[in-house]
Amino acid sequence: MEAKKIRSTFIEFFQSKQHHYVPSSPIVVKNDPTLMFTNAGMNQFKDAFLGNEIAKYSRVANSQKCLRVSGKHNDLEEVGVDTYHHTMFEMLGNWSFGDYFKKEAIEWAWELLTEVYGLEKDRLYVSVFEGDTGDNLGLDQEAYDLWKAIVPEDRIIMGSKKDNFWEMGDVGPCGPCSEIHVDLRSDAERALVAGKDLVNNDHEQVIEIWNLVFMQFNRVSDGSLKPLPATHVDTGMGFERLVRAIQHKSSNYDTDLFAPFLAALAKKSEKVYGEDLPTDIAFRVIVDHIRAISFTIADGQLPSNNKAGYVIRRILRRAVRYGYTFLGFQEPFLYELTSLIADNFGDIFPEVRQQQEFIAKVIFEEETSFLRTLDNGLKMLDQIKAELSEKGEKVIPGKTAFDLYDTFGFPLDLTSLIARESGLSLDEKGFTLEMEAQKTRSRAASESETGDWVILNEDNGVEFVGYDFLKAHAQIIKYRVISDKKGDKYQLVLDKTPFYAESGGQVGDTGWLISETEKVKVIDTKRENDLIVHFVEKLPANPEAQFGAEVDAEKRFMTENNHTATHLLQSALKVVLGDHIQQRGSLVNQNLLRFDFSHFSKLSDEEISQVEDIVNEKIRQNIPLSEQRNMPIEEAKKQGATALFGEKYGDFVRVITFDKDFSVELCGGTHVPQTSKIGLFKIISEASSASGVRRIEAITAKSAEDYFRKQESLVKEIQELLKNPKDLMKSIESLLQERNDLKKEIDSLHMEKASGVKVELLKQFVAGDGINTLIAQVELPNADSLKKLAYELKNETANAFVILAAKIEDKPQIAVIIDEELITGKGLNAGQIVRELAKEIQGGGGGQAFFATAGGKNLAGLENVVAKAKELYL
Ligand code: ALA
Repeated sequence: MEAKKIRSTFIEFFQSKQHHYVPSSPIVVKNDPTLMFTNAGMNQFKDAFLGNEIAKYSRVANSQKCLRVSGKHNDLEEVGVDTYHHTMFEMLGNWSFGDYFKKEAIEWAWELLTEVYGLEKDRLYVSVFEGDTGDNLGLDQEAYDLWKAIVPEDRIIMGSKKDNFWEMGDVGPCGPCSEIHVDLRSDAERALVAGKDLVNNDHEQVIEIWNLVFMQFNRVSDGSLKPLPATHVDTGMGFERLVRAIQHKSSNYDTDLFAPFLAALAKKSEKVYGEDLPTDIAFRVIVDHIRAISFTIADGQLPSNNKAGYVIRRILRRAVRYGYTFLGFQEPFLYELTSLIADNFGDIFPEVRQQQEFIAKVIFEEETSFLRTLDNGLKMLDQIKAELSEKGEKVIPGKTAFDLYDTFGFPLDLTSLIARESGLSLDEKGFTLEMEAQKTRSRAASESETGDWVILNEDNGVEFVGYDFLKAHAQIIKYRVISDKKGDKYQLVLDKTPFYAESGGQVGDTGWLISETEKVKVIDTKRENDLIVHFVEKLPANPEAQFGAEVDAEKRFMTENNHTATHLLQSALKVVLGDHIQQRGSLVNQNLLRFDFSHFSKLSDEEISQVEDIVNEKIRQNIPLSEQRNMPIEEAKKQGATALFGEKYGDFVRVITFDKDFSVELCGGTHVPQTSKIGLFKIISEASSASGVRRIEAITAKSAEDYFRKQESLVKEIQELLKNPKDLMKSIESLLQERNDLKKEIDSLHMEKASGVKVELLKQFVAGDGINTLIAQVELPNADSLKKLAYELKNETANAFVILAAKIEDKPQIAVIIDEELITGKGLNAGQIVRELAKEIQGGGGGQAFFATAGGKNLAGLENVVAKAKELYL
């Protein structure tokens, strides 16, 4: 069975059991402080498990794009070394939200694997949670009994908390689980050692394929378990492993999911996959990593130097490094694989097909710049080797190896290989220490502190009324204190709120909570999954009071001007530059708007003016806002609404339209009621923000007026400075002309002066013993003229040896020049001489044997330079 068929069979099987199919959520996570990437199918349902949200469907099935390279589930260094771990993988899952529980989950899993996919029953093992004293939990007897009815007892394995209690992160929903493992060894091997003994033992052929989690608890930050309001099922099956089991392959990479990629790489590198180990690992690393990189870029995460962007950059660099070291790729190669990604995954994940060109471009640029870095790293290593040999040392220090790893992405084995080839060794222990220190640092940096909610009134739902009102009567339903190094932060959730929570680039509202007795400032509002969290200056003394929740209206209005202008800008860019423009990010606040979009070249001044003209024209047309709040997503797409890649949209969306033929966008933000409120639009900068992405910053309304006023007063000031000429430009041009003329005149005066000095000096040479020596003190306008004078004196005198002590702009300088003949003949060296003489002016310098200069601090010392030189050389 082909991989595509295996995937669709899974979905259809659960559809036949009344499950609703939902598309994968983006692989890049937004609005969740505990997670950067989706690491399990259940992430998008976290709120349903926690009871923050009522699930739309009680039974769901899907195939989720996941990435496990950071945080709790971290496999990066393993990937490629073995044959069954991946960075990006698909997780097939079925869910019950407060509906069926262990019985159906277990029975259906068994039915699908053995009856539909036809896996042999005697190759399957199952595990159940044996209990854990720390959490005060006993054996999962219910699961045990259910399995006992299906499989012989000697195929049931007792699992520890590590293997059979699933948790999404340090905090969050969790519960005991049952895993299904498959033994893919040959019959002969199976006869020798029982598969049961190899389960959970890192055996490449005895692997877990499906995890059935019975969600029952929420792990809170003090480490304890709180029961969830209802019980749920969360299952996750490793798609790549399942395909391998069904296709009877001994490695995930031999399935039709990876084979086309391996073939393309083999062709390009002219190397064979499956012959020797380091090359095979390189093949696997690359075909694995290209998936992770492409899918995350498609969902809006570009490689960068921080957080999620840095994770992607590291994965990409790891792939390039393996290609460079083991497959001989010295030029970008990864980007070429993106067309295979589009071909193989475009049907189920259309975003990789729609954005293929963009993904390829981003990867190409990253590769190009990293290959340059790699080259520099190799040069650096050469230099390190030279320094060590100069010092007579033979060990590359751990810190140096670590710097190479950290800055140039050099893995330890590459550095150690090069070291060995040069007869050096490497301080591996030192390297490991540095590495551990860095891990500790980054762990500390990525740890987000979360405190537990104090619940006041959980029963009330949370209502957002901020599209229609800026004030509301509200009650606090929960609050928490988050303590970190910077101090305490206070957060609260209201039953009803007019506060817009930061999202879609628009900043969160600020404002006040006002009760009869106090007024508390709201300093920010953010989303946490689907919760609206208000950040307050302090907790109200009486949190159970009734509050008036009041948004800072002026700030909100200014922000709205910029948000609507962003929509108009996006449409104007499409008109001027073309339909390839895709939003890549945005920031909208009360001061400005920033819009990132895919485009490959700098905008010309003319293009910028055209864009501004279109937006300002739309502002003057006073187009009214048309807002539709609950449009089925299919309908919105039919209307041509612009959607963002990597954004999580529900079945019903909000559509914001300003002229249905101009700007129709899916958007959750707040907007002006009609465009004339924006007043004026002005682009203040245009630059590159990442490879293939341009960034425009613009201002509106009062800020734009202020901008023009500032420009106007600048011109006025210049005019006044120039005594109000009739024609300002002409006046500046003539000033510049005058300046140039004067400079020329000064230059020629300098030259005249220097040649006068030269004539005098030529007379002062002292002849003796085959050397014509000149030692003199001079005053010159700049260092260039000193050099020029020294050269001319030497060229116009035979066997010249010249020492000049010069005063240049009130600073002392020395120049020494020596006829080449005298260097070997008389053993004179300008560099040495200048260094000795520079002591008199408290300075230093150097150069070559025939010409050297020095600068210093002590002008008065020039006379001593002359005296000392005369004493030594006359
Ligand atoms: N959430 C479970 C896992 O990731 C199914 O293994």
